[in-house]
Amino acid sequence: MAQTKFWFFFWSAALCIVNVQKVYSDRLPIVLWHGMGDTCCFPFSLGGVRKFLESEIGVYVKSIEIGNSIVEDFKSGYLVHPNQQIEMVCAELSKDAMLNNGFNAIGFSQGGQFLRGLVQRCSTARVKNLITLGGQHQGVFGLPNCPSLSSRTCDRFRQLLNYAAYTELMQNFLVQATYWHDPLNEVKYKNFSTFLADINNELFINQSYVANLQKLNNFVMVQFNNDTIVQPLETQWFGYYKPGQDKVTQGLKESELFIKDRLGLKKMDDDNKLVFLECEGNHLQFTKEWFREKLFSYLM
Ligand SMILES: *[C@@H]1O[C@H](CO)[C@@H](O)[C@H](O)[C@H]1NC(C)=O
Ligand SMILES: *[C@@H]1O[C@H](CO)[C@@H](O)[C@H](O)[C@H]1NC(C)=O
Ligand SMILES: *[C@@H]1O[C@H](CO)[C@@H](O)[C@H](O)[C@H]1NC(C)=O
Repeated sequence: MAQTKFWFFFWSAALCIVNVQKVYSDRLPIVLWHGMGDTCCFPFSLGGVRKFLESEIGVYVKSIEIGNSIVEDFKSGYLVHPNQQIEMVCAELSKDAMLNNGFNAIGFSQGGQFLRGLVQRCSTARVKNLITLGGQHQGVFGLPNCPSLSSRTCDRFRQLLNYAAYTELMQNFLVQATYWHDPLNEVKYKNFSTFLADINNELFINQSYVANLQKLNNFVMVQFNNDTIVQPLETQWFGYYKPGQDKVTQGLKESELFIKDRLGLKKMDDDNKLVFLECEGNHLQFTKEWFREKLFSYLM
């Protein structure tokens, strides 16, 4: 009698597992990349997002941690060069068997442009949909507010960036210098930005960046309309200041990058792979309802 019960339990458990796997077998795992002043796992930020996605999408969710502790991870957002971060993450993701069949990727703030860099450079990472929330695809000029830093430290950063962003020292030392985009000095930006100008094919065209980006099913860019951290707002949709001044902005489609199709974005647009979404509110301020309504369709 006891044995019968055991088998019954065993089979229902087995069927249940089979069912769960069947229901979600077409859903891909999700990789998250945090922003500056944040880490992989704080319960009030990406740790919470991870739980939310695990329970509602029902897939494996990996939140990228740079280094071996929360402190290192936090510091990396300011001090570990994006080129190095992307290389480390590329190696780490390729070792994760759960991600071998592809995954969707969500980047928060600067994690957005880092994930795009990963898509372009890391051919072993098979990203299907790339979602960037408040990313800075054309860089920033100005740093009105810095998350998690005192206003004095933030002021100091801003001064350093204004005067010395394109020096070798700053390019090696401060992550934000690598995507500082001075529209008054486009030539300097193109010649000396050691990260953003490279992944945006500014100086020369790396065809593998174009080819790898084309492999995406969708490239979804979310702009926060009331953002007080990212300047200009349009960079979140790959727009920027018109070259030579810092007042008037232009959309992606008016830019030389798009018109001459140096990165394959025009081709992606022709293929309906570019998605522009907006969210009312300040930097990364979204609700679960908003996230479900706007983004779940790319994750299911
Ligand atoms: C283009 O990008 C690939 C992938 O990151 C890299 O291996 C290659 O060296 C780059 N090509 C040039 C000419 O820089
Ligand atoms: C930028 O690079 C180009 C070509 O490599 C060079 O001709 C030019 O002098 C450089 N400009 C500056 C400001 O470094
Ligand atoms: C956000 O900005 C829009 C204009 O882009 C404005 O109409 C709206 O009132 C702002 N919302 C908040 C909450 O500040």
